[in-house]
Amino acid sequence: MTGTAGITIHSYLDGSSLDSMAADVRAGLTRKGLKMLPPKYFYDDRGSELFDQITSLPEYYPTRCERAILNRRAPEIVEITGARELLELGSGMASKTRALLFAMAGAGSLERYLPMDVSELVVERCAEELVEMYPGLRVHGVVGDFEQHLEHVPAAQARLVAFLGGTIGNLYPDERAPFLRDIRGLMGDGGWLVLGTDLVKDPATLEAAYNDSAGVTAEFNRNVLHAINRELDADFDVDAFEHVAFWNELDSWIEMRLRVHGDQQVRIEGADLDIELADGEEIRTEISTKFTRERLEEELAGAGMELETFFTDDEAMFGLSLATLA
Ligand code: AVJ
Repeated sequence: MTGTAGITIHSYLDGSSLDSMAADVRAGLTRKGLKMLPPKYFYDDRGSELFDQITSLPEYYPTRCERAILNRRAPEIVEITGARELLELGSGMASKTRALLFAMAGAGSLERYLPMDVSELVVERCAEELVEMYPGLRVHGVVGDFEQHLEHVPAAQARLVAFLGGTIGNLYPDERAPFLRDIRGLMGDGGWLVLGTDLVKDPATLEAAYNDSAGVTAEFNRNVLHAINRELDADFDVDAFEHVAFWNELDSWIEMRLRVHGDQQVRIEGADLDIELADGEEIRTEISTKFTRERLEEELAGAGMELETFFTDDEAMFGLSLATLA
């Protein structure tokens, strides 16, 4: 909780986050077949800074395209939904969402904003900035992981839920279905979802976005190993890993991996784990699924939702779905 009028902040991060990191790392690195690490561990302070840099790289179009769509369509979204309350999953500093808040304020319907993010500092700063901009706005910050703590988000009716950036593409198909169902529950009767997704396009454009010439994405990718070294007292020789990103057409996703050069033995003290990596072995660190409108319609329907409108930028690079309860 903070003292500023209009702001309440609840944190659901307890002391167990290191335990879950250890469990995730252990599960991913001891699998048969391809080793994996979850993408959420990219985002320590350095990783968040690197991601920020990614969003302004010339090759990385999604952030620019989504911002253009939101800036153009926010008034329509606000008019169609009539929403008085916005819940945003993975809100960060809400830089793209501000178009929605601005349009709600303009329509005289901005009552409450509920940002959910894993960074308490970011939720606090964002809340303070927004109540200053919009006197009378109530901000209810939820500090937690949207894959673990959705149950703590207070219920409401006719709420607009925003999940932007294409982050849903990080989830595997079997994880997306239950996640979309949970979101449906958070919308309440008469509620809406605004969902940002990157779209299928030519492989060269997709691959360039994840293999930028400045090497920022490569640093971002390797950063997950720095984070594990620090948090779990591990000894990955990070410089021996090469960034790999490619379009996987069969699964319709960009896949990021780290390929080790030379055999490497790694001790991960905090997970009480020793692993051996053979020269050339790869670890999958992220999938970033690319969608079509048809696929989105199907998956939303599977979660009890109906696609009301589908917005794209002029080049149809990125999609913003507006869905309601079916
Ligand atoms: C934040 C998950 C949407 O998948 O494009 C950017 C993360 N990874 N470059 C994406 C990312 C490499 C990003 N998301």
